This record gives sequence, C-alpha cells and structure tokens, in this order.
Amino acid sequence: MSYDKREEDVVTNLSNNTHIDHIVEEALANPNRRRLMASGAAGAAALSFMGLTGCGGSDSPSAPAPAPVAPPAGPVKATALGFPAIAKSLADTVTVPPGYQASVLIRGGDPINAATPAFLNDGTDSAASAAFRAGDHHDGMHFFGMTTTGAYDPNASDRGILCINHEAITPNFLHPNGVTSVAGVRTVNEEVLKELNVHGVSIVEVARSGNSWSYVRNSVYNRRITTNTDMILSGPAAGTPFMVTRYSANGTRTRGTVNNCANGYTPWGTYLTCEENYAGYFRRITATDNVNRTPKELANFNRNGVAGTGREGWATAIATDPNDTTFSRWNAEKLGNSTDGSDDFRNVANTFGWIVEIDPFNTTSAPRKRTAMGRFAHEGAWPAKAVAGQPLVWYMGDDSRGEYIYKYVSDANWDPADATRGLAAGDKYLDAGKLYVARFNADGTGDWLELRFGNGPVVSTYAPYAFANQADVLINARHAADALGATKMDRPEWGAVDPFTSSVYMTLTNNNSTLRTLASTDAANPRFYNDPRTNGTAQRGNPNGHIIRWIEVASNSAALQFGWDIFLFGARATQDTRTVNLSGLTAANDFSSPDGLWFGRNGILWIQTDDGAYTDVTNCMLLAAIPGGVRDGATVTVANVDGTNTKNVTTYVGAQLGETRLRRFLVGPKDCEITGLAESADGKALFVNIQHPGEETSAAAFAARTFNSNWPNGGTSRPLSATIVITRTDGGVIGV
Ligand code: FEO
Ligand code: CA
Ligand code: CA
Repeated sequence: MSYDKREEDVVTNLSNNTHIDHIVEEALANPNRRRLMASGAAGAAALSFMGLTGCGGSDSPSAPAPAPVAPPAGPVKATALGFPAIAKSLADTVTVPPGYQASVLIRGGDPINAATPAFLNDGTDSAASAAFRAGDHHDGMHFFGMTTTGAYDPNASDRGILCINHEAITPNFLHPNGVTSVAGVRTVNEEVLKELNVHGVSIVEVARSGNSWSYVRNSVYNRRITTNTDMILSGPAAGTPFMVTRYSANGTRTRGTVNNCANGYTPWGTYLTCEENYAGYFRRITATDNVNRTPKELANFNRNGVAGTGREGWATAIATDPNDTTFSRWNAEKLGNSTDGSDDFRNVANTFGWIVEIDPFNTTSAPRKRTAMGRFAHEGAWPAKAVAGQPLVWYMGDDSRGEYIYKYVSDANWDPADATRGLAAGDKYLDAGKLYVARFNADGTGDWLELRFGNGPVVSTYAPYAFANQADVLINARHAADALGATKMDRPEWGAVDPFTSSVYMTLTNNNSTLRTLASTDAANPRFYNDPRTNGTAQRGNPNGHIIRWIEVASNSAALQFGWDIFLFGARATQDTRTVNLSGLTAANDFSSPDGLWFGRNGILWIQTDDGAYTDVTNCMLLAAIPGGVRDGATVTVANVDGTNTKNVTTYVGAQLGETRLRRFLVGPKDCEITGLAESADGKALFVNIQHPGEETSAAAFAARTFNSNWPNGGTSRPLSATIVITRTDGGVIGV
C-alpha cells in the first residue's frame, strides 16, 4: 500500500489550453483574439503607468515612478537578513543558524487532552485515541493570537491557537507491523479507523513562557477535525442534486475533510483548510462503473481524477454493522437503485475538493465547505490585505501539473465590524463572490477570467462539459477554466501577499518532461532543461520549479488585469546561468522545488521546499528572502534544449537578490518536506512543520525496523512529523 506522494497529482488537464505563446500566434491570425491582445496592451500601458514595468532591467521600457502604496501599520520593512546562511545538509537533524534555536512543539501522536495516554509510537496506539492526538504529516498551519479572555486578537503573541493540517500518512509507521491487506483488501478495521483519524486538522492552544513555547495539553480549545467530522456544505453548490449522498439526502452536509495541504485564514479569525488531492482517496473502478454513469459524470470524473482503487484502500474495509458507512463512503461507484444518489455515495467526490472554514474559537461549530470558492485540488487560500469598504480577495492554486491559478473576490465589501462574527462573517463573505482564473500573457500582463455560467464558452453547449448552472460551474471549475483559456502552470503550490506592496507570490514547484514538454514552454513557465543528479541520472523538464509573482492594476486586489514576472528560479548553483540558474543562485541560497511561502510582517518572504530533485545533495530547506517588486529585473530570452530540439522563450526575470537578500535559514532531517509557516504577531516565534521524515524507508528496512530517519525522538525510534518553533536565543525578531 505504499504510495508515491510525488506522483499523487495525476495529470487530468488534457485541454488544448493555452500556452501563452500560442495565444500570441493566434492573435496574429484571429481578429477577435487581436482585440483581446489589444486590451492586454492597454493593460500593459496601465501597468507601465503604475510603474509596474521597467523598474530596473536595461531592456525594459522606462516608466514613471510607482504610485504610492500606503504602508501597513506596525513593523517596518526589513532591509537586511540578520543571520549567516547555513550550508546544505544530508544530516538527520534540523539545522538553524547560530543564535537561533529550534524546539519540537507538537509531534504526530501527541495527546491533546489530559485523558489520552502518552504516545507509544510503536503502532499499538489505538484508533480511537488517534481522534485525541495530533495527526500525521503536519502541513499548512496558522497562529491565531488570543487575549487572556479567549478572544481572537491578531496582535497577541504570548498565547494563541495553532491550527495544523494533517495532509496524509506514512502508512507503515502507523501500525504494529505496517499496513495489513490481503489482495488489496484492508482486513484490519482498526488500522483503517486509525488512518481516518490521523487525517484532518489539529486545533491546539499554544503558549509562551519566557522564550520557550509549549502546547497546552488540557486546553478547552483543543480538538481534532478528521475525515469523520460532520460538515456543512455552504454557498451556491450546497443543496443541489450534485451533492446528494446517503449521508445527506438534501445535499447540504458531508462527512470529513482529507488531504489538507496548505491553508488560509480570514480577517475574522477563522481557519481555512484546503482539500488538495482528494480525488485519489475514492474507489471507482472504471471498468464496471463507467457503464452506469452519464457522459457528464464521466467528464467530471476524468477531469478531476476520480478513478482507481482508492489511495489507501479504505473503501475495501467492511464494517461490522451494514448501516455503518465509515468505509463504504469512500466508494464513489453507483451501487444503489435511487435516481438521485441518496442510497449510495456516487456523488461523494463532489463534496470534496473545497476550501473548508473552521472557527477555532467556537469549539462546537461544524466546519463549512465554501463552494463559492470552487472545487479543484486546493493547495491553499491566501488573503490579500483586508481594506474597509472593498471586497475581500483570496488567491488559490490548483496543485497538479498543468493546472491553474485562481482568485476569489467577495461580493460584500469588508466591514471591520465583522471581525468578531466568526462563521457568520464567513457566510457573508465566502458564500457569495466571483471566482476567476489567471491567464498569463506573453507580454508580461495577465487577465483574470470569470468562472461564471453564461460567460463566453461556459455554457450548456460547451462540448467537453455541458454546464447546467453556476453550481455546476463551481463543482467543475477545472472544466470552466479550460473553456476560458487559462494558462497551464508548472504545478501551483503556495502563495503569499507582500504586506508592503500587495504583490502576490506563488510557487510553481516543478514539472517533468512528460507532462510539460519543450514545445509547451511559455513565458510564465519558460524553462526546459536537464538537472542531472550527482550519479548522472537525467531529470528533464522543470524539475527545480520557480516562483511567479504579479501585481494587480492600481494595486487593487479585485482588478481584472495584472503585471507579472518570475521572482526566482530554483536551480543548483552549478547550473548554467543563462538557461537554468537564471536567478544567479549560489551555494548560500540554491534550492529546488519551492513549495511553502509566508510573508513575515517585516516583509521577509520565507520559502520552503518539498523536493525530490536536489535531494542527492541536500535535505529540504527553508530560505529567507527580501524581495523587491514586480519587473525589477530584466527581460531574458532562454535558449531551451531537449536533445536536438530547441526553443527560445522570452520571459521576465526578477532582479537577482544575491546572498545579501536570499539565504538558507534551515535544513530539515532526512526524507522530510519543510512545510507550513506561521508566526507570532511580534515576529519572535516562527512555527514550521517537518513533514514525513524517513518517508522513503523501504518495506524491507521497515521490516527490520531500521528507518531512514529517527527524527525527532532519536535512538532507533520511528520518525514522526512535527511542528517545531524557532526562536532567537536573545528573544529577538526572527530573520533580521
Ligand atoms: Fe500537498 Fe501541494 O502539496
Ligand atoms: Ca505543498
Ligand atoms: Ca509539494
């Protein structure tokens, strides 16, 4: 039952979209397209007027100075990094710079109430107890500062609630002798029940004493959200026939959340957990199920990847009580006789793939899946700064190779009086809004295209998918984005919004030569290269990834046009600086596969990696950057080569940061991914997750109980995912 995490994003985008140079070519031939490009040119002029182009590159057009952006209250922008870069490392430990300390805060299995016993970590801890312990594979998280009376206070630092996603599992480590299955059937229900409970979200109170942090084991706020938690479907797709299941005949509820990758938060103090590669958890055997499904259902399944035996095989377990659907609800096949799906789980996959809002301060509240924000492999939801009287905006990525970048704009304008209204504020801002997808134009501009029923090709006569209404558009957001001509990206991961400039950064973690060929490079995904491992093994495509950034016209988050460039390209420092190492990385800051992002209040951009390409040289890492602004660099033409084929691609490369503005800050233990970032309001504590250390332990090594990593407990222990907290030994602000 081993599962290659890095292959989980099965590519399903077979649309003919839109590598942006194709759009340019089309524009030359197609007058309608030419009009579009003309509006793009107008956008470029607007961007130029805003000073968003030509800031530095000698080959960029000159432009007036940028319009002033009101500085945020509070911290001033950092101008220098106050630590020496640390070296790359293959050691099974967490390394931070001198003057810093990293402490384990909460590990997988740690009890979150007084009644649950200490974690034995030998696979014997019970399934039932897992609902009262921290889960596995810690991922996205957020720190919600709290007053002494238990209210949300974004400026509080000594006490808070940490919400932590548990994306997935390393199955063998959870059970006494690894996963038990017979011919693909899960035969030990206790094992499956445990796996169901270690997914989801942990909500735990944390507190500072002096310069050290701990979680509060018996806090009334502590609770787990799991794959079994009752949830409310909310927004336009709730209560529609698409959502009807045996669990909820009127389609207004569903059970649980899964593959919670990155996250977001709201200005009213709630947590947004995001359902990423949900599709693979459902069992749907196409050979027998397809004949029972409509063409529309099949188009939905195909575009979202709902097919196969189910990632962990949960649907194969058999409950003692035939009315117990704990396992059978992971079977998305049409098994019942009803016309509406109320007697089986044929529609269950439609109830996953959403942004889920959780109120950490209201301990009895049910999470709400916000369908207005669309359904896809949600990596996270990153808020633009909330401005009174203006709509609220979240940026979102669809984490799969060749998928898209989206944004959500609320219909309601922000009223700061809603900051204390919890989920009721969520109902106001997250249930009604506009959903857009990004098109990155070759001229350095971009457009937001609205996923609205009736908008252009998003109609019932669209051949690949016959949209019925807006609920259908939101459930099948990928189809709608295809129809609108969005730009396929090199696997969107995390985003972050610069608190000083409102520029938006988003990681494009990597792509391979099968799923993104030389021919389909474009200005926003411009590189095709070989990154050979030390042993000579070729890695072709864009194995090191890049970070794109954009700024909206007039710095208005709700604008429909933007200007963009590529902030950083991942690369080995030894690679060619004209074709691969375009950002001029050195030994002090070279990295591969950027994933997590977080802007500190002082404007430091923290960059995490989830890499499999450079791991012959270094474990995954965390870097700190002091960015400039969009189009502060040069226009560059990259001469890509694949064997005897070549393709030149012109793109916009951000100014090189050098070692003064980009440094490696942390390297993690073996086989881990560094993910999840949160900070206390005073910037003196940085919370970071170490996910799946020792994950590559082979079955044979597991059988011998020798693990690739023994972090964090050491000795010969099974490795554990964990949240760590980083502080300065002198108690100062991190990074500066
Ligand atoms: Fe769960 Fe997008 O990595
Ligand atoms: Ca990720
Ligand atoms: Ca990743």
